[in-house]
Amino acid sequence: MRMRVTARSVALEILESVLDRSRPLDDTLDGHAGLGQLEDRDRAFARVLAATTLRRLGQIDALITGFMEKPLPPKARGVKHILRLGLAQLLFLGTPAHAAVDTAVDLAKDRDYTAHKKFVNAVLRRADREGPALAAAQDAARLNLPDWLWHPWCAAFGEETVRQIATVQAFEPPLDISVAGDPAAWAEPLEAELLPTGSLRRPGGGAVRSLPGFDEGAWWVQDAAAALPVRLLGDVTGRTVADLCAAPGGKTLQLAAAGAKVTAIDRSAKRLERVAANLARCHFEAELVAADAQAWRPETPLDAVLLDAPCSATGTLRRHPDIAWLKHPGDVAKLADLQRRLLAAATEMVRPGGMIVYCVCSLQPEEGAALVDQALADGLPLQRRPIAAEEVGGLAELISEAGDLRTLPCHLADKGGMDGFYAARLVRR
Ligand SMILES: C[S@@+](CC[C@H](N)C(=O)[O-])C[C@H]1O[C@@H](n2cnc3c(N)ncnc32)[C@H](O)[C@@H]1O
Repeated sequence: MRMRVTARSVALEILESVLDRSRPLDDTLDGHAGLGQLEDRDRAFARVLAATTLRRLGQIDALITGFMEKPLPPKARGVKHILRLGLAQLLFLGTPAHAAVDTAVDLAKDRDYTAHKKFVNAVLRRADREGPALAAAQDAARLNLPDWLWHPWCAAFGEETVRQIATVQAFEPPLDISVAGDPAAWAEPLEAELLPTGSLRRPGGGAVRSLPGFDEGAWWVQDAAAALPVRLLGDVTGRTVADLCAAPGGKTLQLAAAGAKVTAIDRSAKRLERVAANLARCHFEAELVAADAQAWRPETPLDAVLLDAPCSATGTLRRHPDIAWLKHPGDVAKLADLQRRLLAAATEMVRPGGMIVYCVCSLQPEEGAALVDQALADGLPLQRRPIAAEEVGGLAELISEAGDLRTLPCHLADKGGMDGFYAARLVRR
């Protein structure tokens, strides 16, 4: 029996969709009926509550296990989700105890878990008393990262850095903005800080559509790290550039704003509609092609290709905390195969001397530096053109020894971090 639609009932449905039905968080949120019925404030709270629960899931579940004498039966799985939401509010969102506990008991009642009402009340009362001290003593970084991420990340970046990454990922990320013209001119109206890389950052986020300049298309939302790969192509004025795997089009907008003749390719015609809408709002033009980038070829070889390859997206856990719990190493291997084929296809699209920027929002080396190293060793007619710190706002820590871009979520940590992006700049021999 489902009765009231509240921020917490919607957050519960989101958790069920992600954790019980393995549906990605973004897909779950897109067009969620209950979310649409909530007032703005409640809608924002439902999102933050679901995302916080997923970000802190390892910590929350360890606490719940400690509070229970025996595990809940499988048919009471919903009760565990209700407890998870309760703990997220009590320990990580600063919700007053009476509100977190009473609404959890109401949820149990509404969901026909009447037999568990007292249990929910007792566990959450205990969590309120003992939880803060227990949570403070937890190894949060280790608990919130599943093994399939913890081990390869430690091998690639060292445990200390992984702990810094996990710390940043535990919090809501800020809102980053790319501006079509001069970003400095929009810092004040948007109450944002100009980052060294040229993006604007609003620490408190905010309702994007009601911010100044949105309606006239002066800017678009784009993580500071996601804005870097296009810059690596240098001056693209008048150049022919293909943006492969383009939707929803953040990089297409950047390329068009920089004066390139852009062809944006995505295999999803539906997702290309979002590119078209974004271009129209910002008054830019690009040719849109619905095609598989493995098969598509231009009529004449291009000056440059930006390949933002589909990837495990493990660099975006701040915004997509579901990825930690839904994906696994098998996904990474499959994606690396596709990435290899896409890089080979991109190589056939550019003229000799033309440039390719290959990028992924992944922290897995198999999708990044290892893949590019292997492609070069296998004889793809490409050569690395190393990236200099000056090209990314002077932030030398973003550049690897080989001269690739390797941003980590803990870079600019004091300002809220950035997505983990890898990019290599390659020139066709
Ligand atoms: C990594 S995102 C791209 C983000 C985008 N470049 C941006 O900056 O907004 C993934 C996109 O790749 C597209 N895609 C996946 N495989 C593809 C393929 N073989 N050919 C073309 N597009 C593909 C998906 O449809 C999806 O829209």
